[in-house]
Amino acid sequence: MQFKSTIFAAALAATALAANDTDVPSSCSISSGATATAQADLDQYSGCTTLVGDLEITGDSLTSASLANVEELQGSLIVNNASKLNDFHADSLKKVTDTLSLQKLYILSAASFGALEEVDTIQFITLPAISTFTTNLKSANIIYVSDTALETVNAFTSLQKVASFNMNNNKGLGNLESDLETVSDSLEFSSNGNDANVTFDKLIWANNITIRDVESASFTNLESVNQSLGFINNSISTLNLSSLSSVGGSFSVVSNDELTEVDAKNLTSVGGGFVVANNTDFKSINGFSKLATVGGALVATGNFTELDLSSLKSVKGGAQVDTSSGNFSCDALKSLQSKGAIQGDSFVCKNGATSTSIKLSSTSGSSSGSSSRTATSSGASSSGSVSDSSDSSSTSTHTSRGAAAADFAPAGSILGVFAAVAAALL
Ligand SMILES: *[C@@H]1O[C@H](CO)[C@@H](O)[C@H](O)[C@H]1NC(C)=O
Ligand SMILES: *[C@@H]1O[C@H](CO)[C@@H](O)[C@H](O)[C@H]1NC(C)=O
Ligand SMILES: *[C@@H]1O[C@H](CO)[C@@H](O)[C@H](O)[C@H]1NC(C)=O
Ligand SMILES: *[C@@H]1O[C@H](CO)[C@@H](O)[C@H](O)[C@H]1NC(C)=O
Ligand SMILES: *[C@@H]1O[C@H](CO)[C@@H](O)[C@H](O)[C@H]1NC(C)=O
Ligand SMILES: *[C@@H]1O[C@H](CO)[C@@H](O)[C@H](O)[C@H]1NC(C)=O
Ligand SMILES: *[C@@H]1O[C@H](CO)[C@@H](O)[C@H](O)[C@H]1NC(C)=O
Ligand SMILES: *[C@@H]1O[C@H](CO)[C@@H](O)[C@H](O)[C@H]1NC(C)=O
Ligand SMILES: *[C@@H]1O[C@H](CO)[C@@H](O)[C@H](O)[C@H]1NC(C)=O
Ligand SMILES: *[C@@H]1O[C@H](CO)[C@@H](O)[C@H](O)[C@H]1NC(C)=O
Ligand SMILES: *[C@@H]1O[C@H](CO)[C@@H](O)[C@H](O)[C@H]1NC(C)=O
Repeated sequence: MQFKSTIFAAALAATALAANDTDVPSSCSISSGATATAQADLDQYSGCTTLVGDLEITGDSLTSASLANVEELQGSLIVNNASKLNDFHADSLKKVTDTLSLQKLYILSAASFGALEEVDTIQFITLPAISTFTTNLKSANIIYVSDTALETVNAFTSLQKVASFNMNNNKGLGNLESDLETVSDSLEFSSNGNDANVTFDKLIWANNITIRDVESASFTNLESVNQSLGFINNSISTLNLSSLSSVGGSFSVVSNDELTEVDAKNLTSVGGGFVVANNTDFKSINGFSKLATVGGALVATGNFTELDLSSLKSVKGGAQVDTSSGNFSCDALKSLQSKGAIQGDSFVCKNGATSTSIKLSSTSGSSSGSSSRTATSSGASSSGSVSDSSDSSSTSTHTSRGAAAADFAPAGSILGVFAAVAAALL
């Protein structure tokens, strides 16, 4: 939705810019609603250096098509649903003021825009036969590439800034190296090749970043993210975010099965939730040693033996810390909690052997969600023995069994947190 409205706004802006250029002869003006269905329809523009209007190419008679000589298109170039189109070339085209869109071209195997330097929006959707795409692009606002067979993309290497960059479901796409320095809206890379390696080493800041399903991700110069930053369901083994100092929204590292190390040693503040969850091999969560403030909840789940948050001073939300390792101590967190640093009304710290749950106000039950009180948890509470926690000598004196029952339905409530975070990232 965000994407559509951005495109719409961009389209309006581009239309305004494409006001009649007095130097353009009327033969170089495309009447609105016209479509090109044969090469002859395109050849009529071969005398035009500048073409005004939206050029739409479609139909099932074209097998090969090209737009010759046109250097600037004041409008959009849309190639859509041309079922027999094998290849398309527009190698003189330097500038498209609005959108370059290739959509639903099932046998298109080659497209070249060798001179293209400037475009507002690139939209490539459902191009199952295309494997490479090359441009010389220096300026673009929105890049959206989805459901293509692209394996390599050498089209965006000279771009330094965009509003939005989204590549998803391009199953053959492996390595992507980008020189982007800023992304003012969102950067998303998801469901592409399973062993994809993405490198955004020049990126300094972005509004939102979501990276899914990659084998490695490099963001060596990333200093800040205005809203959310998420690494979800990747096969990344180490994540180095050593330049990162702040995240304005939530920070999530979730379901990365092979992750063993995160270095975010310069990260001091997270404006939303801090979620490091379900990373099965992440044993030592020790790369967050400067993290001082968390504006949302603190969620750490998995099988970790260490959670070093030694600079942590303030968590505005609650805390849900749950590890299956028996070797983890809740002492540091309990001490923070008792100092009032964890301000939310629910606090759960659980390990394989012991657990502590504290409810500070009577409203916390409702915030953890009544639906999360499963039969299992009420069974545990009515037995008067909340699994291993009740016989643990380390259980805090503040622990109340009633509260424990509410908060000991973590499966539901933690999933709830995941779902909320995942939704925020979409
Ligand atoms: C552009 O020219 C056409 C006719 O040549 C005219 O109908 C239209 O209103 C003009 N648009 C602008 C924005 O001047
Ligand atoms: C795509 O093209 C085919 C054949 O030309 C036509 O039957 C179909 O309606 C078109 N689909 C769309 C969505 O335009
Ligand atoms: C990504 O990097 C890994 C490790 O260097 C390598 O094994 C894999 O082949 C790379 N993926 C691609 C698509 O090149
Ligand atoms: C995002 O953060 C960058 C770097 O701190 C800043 O320059 C930019 O203005 C911010 N953008 C928004 C929309 O707040
Ligand atoms: C997680 O990644 C695997 C591939 O590594 C993929 O098959 C699966 O659909 C992904 N799951 C989610 C929830 O994205
Ligand atoms: C992360 O990168 C920085 C800068 O290159 C380096 O100093 C640091 O050792 C790296 N961290 C890890 C855990 O490799
Ligand atoms: C850490 O962050 C501070 C700003 O908070 C910055 O001045 C410093 O250069 C950063 N260090 C690294 C290694 O990126
Ligand atoms: C945790 O990871 C497992 C295995 O990859 C997966 O089946 C499960 O759905 C994940 N849970 C959440 C909440 O992401
Ligand atoms: C947790 O990790 C230990 C080894 O560090 C392993 O023995 C144990 O099976 C793991 N537990 C779970 C639930 O994955
Ligand atoms: C558990 O903790 C003890 C003492 O802190 C340590 O010696 C041992 O190696 C730890 N075991 C694991 C599996 O981390
Ligand atoms: C950016 O993140 C915020 C907060 O998570 C979310 O509300 C927003 O929809 C995201 N925007 C985009 C374009 O992904």
